[in-house]
Amino acid sequence: MNKSLIWFSFLLVCAVACNPVKTEEHGHSHDGDHHHSHYPQHDSVLSHKLILPSKVPDRIIANLTATPSTSIGINWRTDQQITEGFVEVALDTDGPEFLFNIIKKVKAETEVFENQHENEPLVKASYHSAVIDGLEPGKTYVYRVGATDKQELWSEWFQFTTASDKKGEEFSFIYFGDAQNQVKSMWSRVIRNSYKQFPQVDFMLHAGDLINSRQSNLEWGEWFYAGDFIHATVPSIMTPGNHEYRDEVLTPLWRPQFTLPQNGPLEELLETCFVVDYQDLKVISIDALSYDDKPHSRKAQTVWLDSILANNDKKWTAITLHYPIFSTKENRDNKNVREGLKPLIDKYKVDIVLTGHDHTYARGQVSNDPTGATSVSDAGTIYAVSVSGPKMYDSMDAEWMERRGEYTQLFQIITIKDDVLTYQAFTPIGTLYDAFDLVKSNGKKKLVNKIPKTAQRFKSDFVKK
Ligand SMILES: [Fe+2]
Repeated sequence: MNKSLIWFSFLLVCAVACNPVKTEEHGHSHDGDHHHSHYPQHDSVLSHKLILPSKVPDRIIANLTATPSTSIGINWRTDQQITEGFVEVALDTDGPEFLFNIIKKVKAETEVFENQHENEPLVKASYHSAVIDGLEPGKTYVYRVGATDKQELWSEWFQFTTASDKKGEEFSFIYFGDAQNQVKSMWSRVIRNSYKQFPQVDFMLHAGDLINSRQSNLEWGEWFYAGDFIHATVPSIMTPGNHEYRDEVLTPLWRPQFTLPQNGPLEELLETCFVVDYQDLKVISIDALSYDDKPHSRKAQTVWLDSILANNDKKWTAITLHYPIFSTKENRDNKNVREGLKPLIDKYKVDIVLTGHDHTYARGQVSNDPTGATSVSDAGTIYAVSVSGPKMYDSMDAEWMERRGEYTQLFQIITIKDDVLTYQAFTPIGTLYDAFDLVKSNGKKKLVNKIPKTAQRFKSDFVKK
């Protein structure tokens, strides 16, 4: 062996003996600075997957349009490297053959958007929104959203069904009071179990306070995470609550991330005050915050509601707004909305008013008789206050309440078939908490209470002061 070969062999042995074994299977580098992150760029951002967008669509949601038998609104988010977006639509099929017959490819409107909430990171996103129209009533379609021909940059295919155009046909929606707090941890089981219990639901209705901090990308991320594919599969509508507002300003995320009808009375109320005709139902969203805080908005929404209800040819009418017309507690009274809206609710015999805000449950009707009595043979308007998230308040008993509850997360399945409206309030484990039917015949409306015999639940039963 020559001299240089001996030296080379010696150095090789030293190199193997002196170097620590590399843990390549974990990708860790146990070197000088000794950090253990696989993704050091995300070290400072907890829950980065909930907050930060990527090139792949997230926060995908379907919304009802004003004409849900022929169109649907679709929104999603990507990072700003994606500068355009498309929705592909096909009629659903038993197998993958729908891929050969894409009936629509719609280019979305893309809005470059950034915001930062307190100590959360600055989030730079592209928000994409599209309205798919020209659809057939009562048909099931598949759609996906994406940006380029790269398969990895498209969402999965989701399925949705358009509203029927036939009178008297059955449909259902699920009504949620405030989600607002611990949305990933504690609200997720409510929306997931509502869908598990009733997957044939046609749309979902959120009565405001979807989140707690209107600008928080983490909280909105939790709301989308909790509903996940349900948001993309079951179209929804939502009315804003006080937590979507601050200092009389709506969260700047509301309009980029939803596509709600733009048929309200004022530019500033686009996508917050609107009306949807869904089969035999007219459902109206009143922007309660704007109504309560701004006299010009109160006047505009009142005049608009009067004209909508005066020209209403639907068999059933529902109004949703965040603030209860009748609160469940004395010091939470909403005088402006009651004094402004109740005369119209009475005049046009609105069937049901769906609200949130009070973090309790109550359902009933107020006096609908000149004598001051409450008639059930010709029922008046049913008022409901509900809560779906875990934040819970106390309430007080009141004459109008037929069923009351505290400390109970709930969702309500409301089904309309021709002359009958069926209402059922469930807990997340599927326990029936309240129920009634409204039956219309010969110009009258009968209330049939189906309240379960179980005791009403109160916060003091579970939480000692
Ligand atoms: Fe609220």
